[in-house]
Amino acid sequence: RKPVTLHRLREMHARGEKIAMLTAYDASFGRLCDEAGVDTILVGDSLGNVIQGQPGTMPVSLEDMAYHVAAVARGNRNCWLIGDLPFGSYHESREQALRSSVKLVQAGAQMIKLEGGGWTADTVRFIVERGIAVCAHIGFTPQTVHALGGYRVQGREEDAAQTMLRHATELAEAGAAMLVMEMVPTAVATRITQALPIPTIGIGAGPGTSGQVLVLHDMLGITRGRLPKFVRDFMDGAPSVGAALRAYVDEVKGGTFPDPATHGY
Ligand code: KIV
Ligand code: NA
Repeated sequence: RKPVTLHRLREMHARGEKIAMLTAYDASFGRLCDEAGVDTILVGDSLGNVIQGQPGTMPVSLEDMAYHVAAVARGNRNCWLIGDLPFGSYHESREQALRSSVKLVQAGAQMIKLEGGGWTADTVRFIVERGIAVCAHIGFTPQTVHALGGYRVQGREEDAAQTMLRHATELAEAGAAMLVMEMVPTAVATRITQALPIPTIGIGAGPGTSGQVLVLHDMLGITRGRLPKFVRDFMDGAPSVGAALRAYVDEVKGGTFPDPATHGY
């Protein structure tokens, strides 16, 4: 297959084809995601949890991110590759955010992702104007879990939903080419998706977004302990890891994952 570009992602969005995203952190899984037809790989700072065994994403450094982006880039050939800016690497200034983004692009990322609403719009514009594609991330943002008061669905009340829509619009206007929404009620995520000119990627945001993402180790049944209800174990009944990844891609594209009744808020 041909490499996925931002142009092709925009075409998919325009014709209503769902975008299948998964996280990956090393070359072997990067290769498997590619072979399974995943559209875009996110080297997420969730590697703090699933690779490093940290209690959250906050201890992850920019150097950690660059190391894993480079590893995935060596295994991947065709997936659009996104790297997460970790906690503290874009908060001081637009210049610091640009420097951090450059590090991930030099490691092989084609797009960078950062968390946060309105306050990040200036940063997004600054990075985009300098030629780096940006994915925004709103709703539940794991880097600020403590300030948010724990692992909670965001945007349940109407005024919070309105604020979220405003932030999403500001981020798209600032030049973000994609928007991740995490743990947002299905109705709110659908409304924001319909209001935006750019594709949205949901995780715990229901089936109304332009695409879906899950943490690889969660959807392969590797993560232990209690998982959020939006996760489905695609290894359940699958004959191989490759088959599980393909089933995820097929179900996202076919609209059967996520199921609003069991995976949504
Ligand atoms: O780090 C990560 O895996 C993420 C996704 C869950 C969106 O940010
Ligand atoms: Na992340």
